[in-house]
Amino acid sequence: MSKPIYVLSGPNLNLLGVREPQIYGKETLDDVRAACERRAEALGRTIVFRQSNHEGVLIDWVQEARTEASAIVINPAGYGHTSIALLDALKAAELPIVECHLSNPAAREAVRHHTYVSLAATGLVSGFGLASYELAVEAAARLSA
Ligand code: DQA
Repeated sequence: MSKPIYVLSGPNLNLLGVREPQIYGKETLDDVRAACERRAEALGRTIVFRQSNHEGVLIDWVQEARTEASAIVINPAGYGHTSIALLDALKAAELPIVECHLSNPAAREAVRHHTYVSLAATGLVSGFGLASYELAVEAAARLSA
């Protein structure tokens, strides 16, 4: 049995469904979790799905994933654009890492064009709303045993 894929979400994503739905969609984080669980199950895999508004908590989970996970899917949200500490934790994890965004940050304000997380990511899925997470879980499953 392979280790789970950690699916981590950063700040403000607990507000999915009510937060700028024209950008992030009407689905809630529970909907995202259910879709990820369905996709993982279809691939014969399991996930650990967590969200935090706190940078240090996300870093603790990435450090935990280092030994407990087979791969990491992470939507770092705003911390992707600011956090070198999160980048360092992801590099130290030495796991396949799939960066995931609901929107397409490259097509938005300039402040969103750079993410530190991309420097540690194996690949990036963005712009497909809830489906970004499903595709990221599929990519993570392909990248890991
Ligand atoms: C986001 C994009 C980020 O720029 C933003 O700060 C978020 C969500 C996305 O999923 O599209 O909070 O990561």
